[in-house]
Amino acid sequence: MAKNKPVQWTRKHLLGLEDLSAGEITHLLDTAEKFLPYATGRKAVHQRLKGRTILNLFCEDSTRTRTSFTLAAERLGARVVQFHAATSSLSKSETLLDTARNIEAMGLDAIVIRHPERGAPEAVAEAVRCSVLNAGDDAHEHPTQALLDFLAIRHKLGRLDGLTAAIVGDVRHSRVARSNLYGLGKLGSRIIFVGPPVFLEGLDDITVPVETSSDFDAVLPECDAVMMLRVQFERHERNVPNGASPPGGAALDLEDYKRGFRLTAKRLARAKPGAIVLHPGPINRGLEITDEVADGRQSAILHQVTCGVAVRMAALSLCIGAKG
Ligand code: CP
Repeated sequence: MAKNKPVQWTRKHLLGLEDLSAGEITHLLDTAEKFLPYATGRKAVHQRLKGRTILNLFCEDSTRTRTSFTLAAERLGARVVQFHAATSSLSKSETLLDTARNIEAMGLDAIVIRHPERGAPEAVAEAVRCSVLNAGDDAHEHPTQALLDFLAIRHKLGRLDGLTAAIVGDVRHSRVARSNLYGLGKLGSRIIFVGPPVFLEGLDDITVPVETSSDFDAVLPECDAVMMLRVQFERHERNVPNGASPPGGAALDLEDYKRGFRLTAKRLARAKPGAIVLHPGPINRGLEITDEVADGRQSAILHQVTCGVAVRMAALSLCIGAKG
């Protein structure tokens, strides 16, 4: 693949990886690399966003993404305001856009939004003047998660082009799978979505070619990286018409699922030597991955989390600083 030319960052918002160029993604990763010493707290606070205010507008639960965006903003010297949907006036029928506009009227430089509806971050970006960063919208996109995955892979394997990565499990309901596919494809990696047929349906929204397999053991010998996904039971009910069976949920035999798709040490031994294991979290230990693999020497899972702070520092500083 041709080497990417350096780019000038002009985007005020980070809403997904579908529209980003390879050069823009690489620029984000290179910027994140420079922030890594701050991401682990080994270096004192950077002052790039001193005096700025960032709102964490989370309308879905989160451990990693909320904490990571908070630490990223604070380590850039910014003030962070936490919005908690359950105790907000959303419960009194205020709309999301009114909520965003009202809080922006108090003075904001960026809104980080997680929302159960696809497209909510785009809608907020159109309604406000400040930057908007997507922290996950339904099964659509989770751009900073994918970027932190790329940074972790680049660290562990030294490159992104020419690699093969399997993304395994509940692909159908995964925003992480979609953002990884859009981004890694542009960076020259081959992605194979792996799962039972019920989790490989409903991918029609994806705008690039998708390679799929239901034979995990056959795919593993080609893999440099194996990304395991959680079965997202909470999204199964949400996305079906009244009366229809939820895809996966009720129909899924968990013992069958484990037999075909749980990553065990024996199964991982089939992958390429030196292959790494990723998981966006939260992990359902024992279901999609065994303890031995999650905590084993090929696991990059906690390194992904560390990379997340650096990636979010890069995304916040580039978007807030963008002139475009
Ligand atoms: N990976 C991820 O988005 O984790 P959280 O749901 O805990 O933020």
